[in-house]
Amino acid sequence: MTDRLFKWEKENEKDVPGEERSSRKPDMSVEIGRIGLKNPLVACSGTFSHGEEHSNFYDISVLGAVTTKSYSLKPRKGNPPPRICETPAGMLNSIGLQNDGIDVFIKSHLAQMKKDGAGIILSIFGKDSEEFKKVALRILDVKADIIAVELNLSCPNVEKDGTSFCAFPEEVKKVVDAVVSMLDIPVIAKLSPNHDNIIQSAEAAKQAGAEAISLINTAVGMAVDVETYRPLLGNITGGLSGPAIKPIALAKTYILARENILPVIGMGGIFDYRDVLEFMIAGASAVGLGTVNLIEYDAGEKILLDLEDYLVKKNINNIRHFTGRIRI
Ligand SMILES: Cc1cc2nc3c(=O)[nH]c(=O)nc-3n(C[C@H](O)[C@H](O)[C@H](O)COP(=O)(O)O)c2cc1C
Repeated sequence: MTDRLFKWEKENEKDVPGEERSSRKPDMSVEIGRIGLKNPLVACSGTFSHGEEHSNFYDISVLGAVTTKSYSLKPRKGNPPPRICETPAGMLNSIGLQNDGIDVFIKSHLAQMKKDGAGIILSIFGKDSEEFKKVALRILDVKADIIAVELNLSCPNVEKDGTSFCAFPEEVKKVVDAVVSMLDIPVIAKLSPNHDNIIQSAEAAKQAGAEAISLINTAVGMAVDVETYRPLLGNITGGLSGPAIKPIALAKTYILARENILPVIGMGGIFDYRDVLEFMIAGASAVGLGTVNLIEYDAGEKILLDLEDYLVKKNINNIRHFTGRIRI
């Protein structure tokens, strides 16, 4: 294993100019398959809405990209309240994939997002591969406005009794295949930490034509009110996010990235620029900012400026320098 990592680091070194001393603004751009981003910071699905609130605090076009909340074919009401509760070092949510449906996104929200100027990653989901395909079909007309489609594979799959798609690599393959066959824009498969099969799922996604893997989605969690004996979420269980899941996300990123299957967009508990560097050193080509957006509205801009300052201070002129540089 050490051998493999060593080779991987050597390969990366070839692509990167290195650490020449420079006072120039560092090159923050990254490439994830065919997806080119001006920097590695991507707003995570479901934590940034369409960016309209955050754009009151900073110019969101400075971000590498913004991922929309996940859209399905038809509108969905989501889960019963309460849908959110705090936990030590994180939060639980059980939003239940509430959304207006893909047609409303295309008719209403897309125009606003285009005006805000950030690269758009459109997150979609369906109850089976046919629904994924139907959503992809709707996107055909607006594909020029979108840099990539992200598949939320943590949603329930009716053909497997509601177990999520990413529990089964063959289902991952089926869905990616269904979407790739409809759309000639890059497809990102988003995986969950709740199944011990990320390597097999990433292989399956690659075989079907995915361009990158996003990980991780939230980890299943629960909280109980000891006075009432009731769960704190209306849905009983929910998804844990924030700093509490960072070590899990980092390990998953490392374990997948070292296999060199597809570029990894790492996410889970990133709250500052040092967290970004940790994910990149562990192998991420880009990173997602999620829960932090709900706590500090200008986090995206602040983390970007801090990253740039750090690179200048260290005389590193290229952010790609960090990807996969872990020393074992
Ligand atoms: C309130 C909330 C809503 C979310 N909604 C979605 C969603 O619609 N689709 C999706 O793929 N991930 C969704 N996520 C997961 C995030 O995109 C991200 O993968 C996860 O929260 C880990 O990153 P973080 O710890 O930085 O938040 C949501 C997370 C939160 C906290």
